[in-house]
Amino acid sequence: MDKLIIEGGVPLTGQVRISGSKNAALPILFASILLSESVTFTNVPTLRDIHTTLKLLNLLGCPAEFNNGTVTITPCSLSPEAPYELVKTMRASVLCLGPLLARLGEARVAMPGGCAIGARPVNLHLSGLEKMGARFELEEGYIIGRCRKLKGAHVIFDFPTVGGTENLLMAACLAEGESILENAAKEPEVVDLANFLIRCGAKISGHGTSILQISGMPSLGGCSYPIMPDRIEAGTFIVAAGITGGELVLQNCPAEELDALLVKLTAMGMYFEQTEDGLLARRRNSSLHGVDIRTQPYPGFPTDMQAQVMALMCLADGPSLVEESIFENRFMHVQELVRMGADIRLSGRSAMVRGVRQFTGAPVMASDLRASASLVLAGLAAKGATQVQRIYHLDRGYEKIETKLVAVGARIRREKE
Ligand code: UD1
Repeated sequence: MDKLIIEGGVPLTGQVRISGSKNAALPILFASILLSESVTFTNVPTLRDIHTTLKLLNLLGCPAEFNNGTVTITPCSLSPEAPYELVKTMRASVLCLGPLLARLGEARVAMPGGCAIGARPVNLHLSGLEKMGARFELEEGYIIGRCRKLKGAHVIFDFPTVGGTENLLMAACLAEGESILENAAKEPEVVDLANFLIRCGAKISGHGTSILQISGMPSLGGCSYPIMPDRIEAGTFIVAAGITGGELVLQNCPAEELDALLVKLTAMGMYFEQTEDGLLARRRNSSLHGVDIRTQPYPGFPTDMQAQVMALMCLADGPSLVEESIFENRFMHVQELVRMGADIRLSGRSAMVRGVRQFTGAPVMASDLRASASLVLAGLAAKGATQVQRIYHLDRGYEKIETKLVAVGARIRREKE
């Protein structure tokens, strides 16, 4: 297992190029199961979750070639089984369920287990697909789904689930007749998936709103498609500029999709400017102020930025209140930040952060992807050396993170534990 050693205290300055979005790439890669022709994707980030997805697609009969950010997939003879060995390492594997049912009328997908940030059930995926005519059984830890031909349906989600919306959107594209998905997720990654499917010949409207309308087609063709930039990676580097008191320019940054984050960071004392080279991010002056945030579905404050912004709040003047409304257990970073000198009190789904003067370096343990990012950020600002252990979580979601950080001045290196 690898760990990162960070010598903190260097203000980061320079330019960082934002990679393709992990959370957009995963569903879009799974959507290739729906296609009758080959497809090429560009701007695909080199990440552990992407390699897992390509391995799984290979087993499902969609062999993929990955070459320096470009993936070509040629669907051939499909197979319905997504084995536990791959699904257990990546929950998003469940996104093959809708496409397999739509193409094959059959799917055997290992039930994703619980994970560090909560129970994360898939009941809304299953009940939506049932409305389209699928039947499910649970056998030996596998979700076994069967259907004749999926039929268009009117589905009202109890909650605007991102993955559930994506699974049903993909299935509806090849179902017979019209589907309406209400209370659907509006996340930019859902919009990117819809735009990709439209490019392949799907009939979809309303993407980016809470009501999606889909007219099923008999088949979908191939195309060439660039994956959108990663708004969470961009947000993480923005916080890196703020927490180290540096100045970063983010190239390829989807600033309009970061509104809720930029509003809060501006209230904390950060400054942003769109320049010719990209979005410039720095502090307005030396101090930062506390703010309150509540995570919400898009366009609200993203839960995937909660841990990173909490690291910044730890160094602000005055208190900040963080309410996590999406996941019931997404505060795994708190105890580790406290080990670095933070003053945070947890109560249920809320955390009260009181600013301290500085972090002090310490050995800390990464527990999930965004928690790991939060510890790296704290380490970049800390006095002394921080060792972030178990960084395989970080490698699931951040492309070349040390290389990018070193290029803007960070003292960070990877070592074997
Ligand atoms: C996606 C993102 C993840 C992000 C999350 C919320 C990917 C690969 N992952 O995860 O980074 O943090 O959106 O923005 O895109 N729920 C149910 N039943 C279901 C489905 C979800 O109860 O069938 C609950 C979950 O337990 C969770 C909440 O709904 O509490 C949000 O989940 P969802 O929006 O589905 O997130 P994911 O698609 O898993």
